[in-house]
Amino acid sequence: MASRLELLLPWCRLRFPVSGTSQTRRALGRPRLSQVRLSSTEAAAQRAPGREEADSKVGTRKKTFSEVQAERLEQAQRTVLINCPAKISEKKFLTYLSHHGKINSHYFYESYGTYAVVEFSEKDSIASLQDVTRTPGIEEECAVPFKSRLFTLTLKNPSTQAAHQAPVHCHKQSTILINDLVQKLCSADSVSNQLYTLMDEYQLTEENTKLRFLVCSLIQDIACAYFPECTVKPFGSSVNTFGKLGCDLDMFLDLDEIGRSPTRAKTGPFYMEYQMKRVPSERIASQRILSVIGDCIDNFGAGCVGVQKILNARCPLVRFSHQPAGFQCDLTTNNRVAMRSSELLYIYGSLDSRVRALVFSVRCWARVHGITSTIPGPWITNFSLTIMALFFLQKRTPPIIPTLDQLKDLADAEDKHIIEGYDCTFASNLNKIKPTENTETLDVLLSDFFEYFGNFAFNKNSINIRKGKEQNKPEPSPLYIQNPFERALNISKNVQEKQLDRFVALARECAWILQQEDKGHSSLSNSQPWGLAALLLPSVASNCVKGKKKRGQASERIKSLLDSLKINNSESLVNNGGKRTFSNQTQ
Ligand code: CTP
Ligand code: MG
Repeated sequence: MASRLELLLPWCRLRFPVSGTSQTRRALGRPRLSQVRLSSTEAAAQRAPGREEADSKVGTRKKTFSEVQAERLEQAQRTVLINCPAKISEKKFLTYLSHHGKINSHYFYESYGTYAVVEFSEKDSIASLQDVTRTPGIEEECAVPFKSRLFTLTLKNPSTQAAHQAPVHCHKQSTILINDLVQKLCSADSVSNQLYTLMDEYQLTEENTKLRFLVCSLIQDIACAYFPECTVKPFGSSVNTFGKLGCDLDMFLDLDEIGRSPTRAKTGPFYMEYQMKRVPSERIASQRILSVIGDCIDNFGAGCVGVQKILNARCPLVRFSHQPAGFQCDLTTNNRVAMRSSELLYIYGSLDSRVRALVFSVRCWARVHGITSTIPGPWITNFSLTIMALFFLQKRTPPIIPTLDQLKDLADAEDKHIIEGYDCTFASNLNKIKPTENTETLDVLLSDFFEYFGNFAFNKNSINIRKGKEQNKPEPSPLYIQNPFERALNISKNVQEKQLDRFVALARECAWILQQEDKGHSSLSNSQPWGLAALLLPSVASNCVKGKKKRGQASERIKSLLDSLKINNSESLVNNGGKRTFSNQTQ
């Protein structure tokens, strides 16, 4: 008899024959490339050393998204941010702060000065610290007397106190330079390990995650002046497992607790309700709230600079930089669906380590080649790219991750979420989702990702992670990715044909590069970037431009060229000063 889990998980039981291309793919190749599909344990054994650390976090990741959020938000309320001299005795610093209560953890980092993030064991310690903290003297510019948890600590006698002091150890808050990354990738022993190395370098650290929750908590302190029951929660890449060091901090001002009315008393002759201002729509309410909170952040928020109120956007927001934290913040309200999509991505990112490794690499690749941008515009966004990668992983045989509909089938009563009329129901308990039996290596997945999207029928098909199937496009946007919850929306509506064409051309070029390396046809010497490192080089993009490959047409040409390569690769491949091109593509 099938177990209950199996019945709940039809997607796990699906078995399709392994595709011929993938099976035969790793026949030749560099010795460092894995040549056969590995079992899960073998694959695990071949991963980069950093992976063990990430895998041991599985225990932590098994917590639900809401549990992690609640835990970290509570932790953030017991935490303070202190600007301090770089040369300071860590021991004396901790002893000084310990007078206010037990310290659970602390770390230093650099951003426009040296900062310490100090987590107390009790919230009361902060009040005790605030009691002995003075407001800035009048000899300085006039200060707005809003007392926050952002402090400055100075030395009483800087010349003597700092003289023989070494600077404190600072935790990294940003990614390494791309050239250093490329070098590091080259010393990995397989493409798979290159992807894990990139992820280890790029992913948010524990410290940076704490800082993100702390910034939410500091903004919550400001909003609480008007709405004492509100919470400010991070969403988007800061918490969906796909965040890169330096990514923006998306914050959600949650006022739901205020709106939640106690059940009407059945006894007694009266009803009592608040008198409140009424506005024509929820959107207008959000705009007004954000406008006031935006002004408060601008006027009272220590460290918050460049505050912009972008209230006419589809989702109104307040944007600013948190200078001490060193990242950009976007504050929204009435954005519950985005919170749910962050949870969905969190689930996908926590299911299998290959998911995050692939998404990080594809996101990095796209950024390096200007496919994505930090400026809003007609580009593919990181969010769209992530959904594309998830869709690709749903299409593997067997699938690496379940479809959204399959996650919905696993949902319990408490997972049911209908938000603004949209069904956002899916299982939140990771333990209910049976791990995939797919054992493909990231070598294969990366190469196939590029091949898959290099040949995807974007002109007629849409991407749908709810069904895990391509569907006919309901409207002619160049790229159509169905919003998983607000199903009538295309999350990539902004993308223009030209940008999509660049993505496709680069994907084809990269698929080709990886396939050639795999077949041992690489014309590059071993000292030159290979695998993922080669895909990050600017020459990849310039080769695309040189080749002037047109979609459709080019696809056929590449296929026939690849066929001819099989017959006589030495004639078709030209090593043009390290830049590889097909001889008849450069005209
Ligand atoms: N979002 C959405 N629909 C969109 C754009 C965004 O639902 N069309 C939601 C997603 O949950 C997304 C979050 O809003 O994760 C934040 O959006 P954004 O900051 O653009 O993307 P991130 O995933 O945070 O990626 P990045 O690192 O580029 O900020
Ligand atoms: Mg974001």
